[in-house]
Amino acid sequence: MSGGSLKAVVIPAAGSGRRIGAGVNKLLLPLAGEPLLVHTLRAVAAAEPDRIVLVTRPDEREAMAAVAAAAGCAVGFADGGPTRQVSVARGVQALPDPIDLIAVHDGARPLLTADLLNASFAAAAEHGAAVVAVPVADTLKVVDDDLVTGSVDRARMWAMQTPQTFRAEWLREAIRHAAVTGFEGTDEVSLVEHLGRPVRVVPGSPRNLKVTRPDDYALAEGWLRMGKEMVVRPRVGYGYDVHQLVEGRELWLGGVRIDSPVGLLGHSDADVLLHAVCDALLGAAGLGDIGRHFPDTDERYRGIASLRLLEATRALLAEAGYQVLNVDVTVIAERPKLAPHVPEMVARIGAVLTIEKDCVNIKATTHEQLGALGAGLGMAAHAVATIVKA
Ligand code: CTP
Ligand code: MG
Repeated sequence: MSGGSLKAVVIPAAGSGRRIGAGVNKLLLPLAGEPLLVHTLRAVAAAEPDRIVLVTRPDEREAMAAVAAAAGCAVGFADGGPTRQVSVARGVQALPDPIDLIAVHDGARPLLTADLLNASFAAAAEHGAAVVAVPVADTLKVVDDDLVTGSVDRARMWAMQTPQTFRAEWLREAIRHAAVTGFEGTDEVSLVEHLGRPVRVVPGSPRNLKVTRPDDYALAEGWLRMGKEMVVRPRVGYGYDVHQLVEGRELWLGGVRIDSPVGLLGHSDADVLLHAVCDALLGAAGLGDIGRHFPDTDERYRGIASLRLLEATRALLAEAGYQVLNVDVTVIAERPKLAPHVPEMVARIGAVLTIEKDCVNIKATTHEQLGALGAGLGMAAHAVATIVKA
């Protein structure tokens, strides 16, 4: 991007998080399973700046160093001051010369992206000063003593975020100028404006929110988790089973009892369709097969309804953190006609797996009189299942 310039990021992290009311610095609170600041530091590090300075309260230096290590981020440190402005000034002072561009980014904005930080570096390299900002969506009014006393033209209103990025000498001069004149601003753009320099806007995203109040915290958590879910990959499993048909046994298929002069032979109720589904589910989860979990040498499973085995399989998957998306089965049987029984099989399997009926598909085919299956000596079933980490 800004060919060859040395880039630094100063991260003020020395606040106390008063408005979130947790009693500790909000940057150390867990957010989507990790300290809030880990997310911020990871995004900054992904943009590969030449230097990062983390401004911390002296008593939190050690905890923040551990967070930086967890983020895999090499940082220098500076001691924070009583206001954000002072904290940033100390962070800038701690930067070695030469540095060409300095971005200031709130530790409390964990949804930064490396692209956004790089866009602000590029704009600052070209224009001297750049701020990430978003147009205001709500109508703006002036309110005095709980009364609306005036309107503001929203069309020209933008909310300032960070990164706020500057040519190093511009920011250093603005900080000196503010110190000399006693000017106080809530961000660095205010200081550079006070110098009379133009600041370029880089369009940002409402996602790049600052975690300030409890509601922001919940929102940031939601965005972060959503980002993670999008990279979760579904898993596929395949199952196959075959059983002999013999006289003197009930015929159970898909958890439904079907009138038939012959039934499937096995240790359990020999429901070949459900066994293929169980194997597909176990396969998808990387949990082996039905024989490993429910061995046919175990007396507990003698004559057991295979719907119970399907239930137990679903529980194993749930324990491993998986949720079933869908199953698709083909049964190979010369007779009887299975189509009339399919809706009930679908309902029973859907109820056990807690998935919608359109996520259970059952097909039947004959074996065209070929081989043992074609001679009606047995039935077979093939199943595939997809699952996802819940
Ligand atoms: N900050 C800082 N030094 C201060 C005050 C704030 O480095 N004296 C940092 C915060 O840690 C935060 C960023 O500036 O990363 C933005 O500040 P803000 O959201 O106001 O955080 P806090 O000051 O911690 O929160 P509050 O104002 O609710 O106490
Ligand atoms: Mg504050």
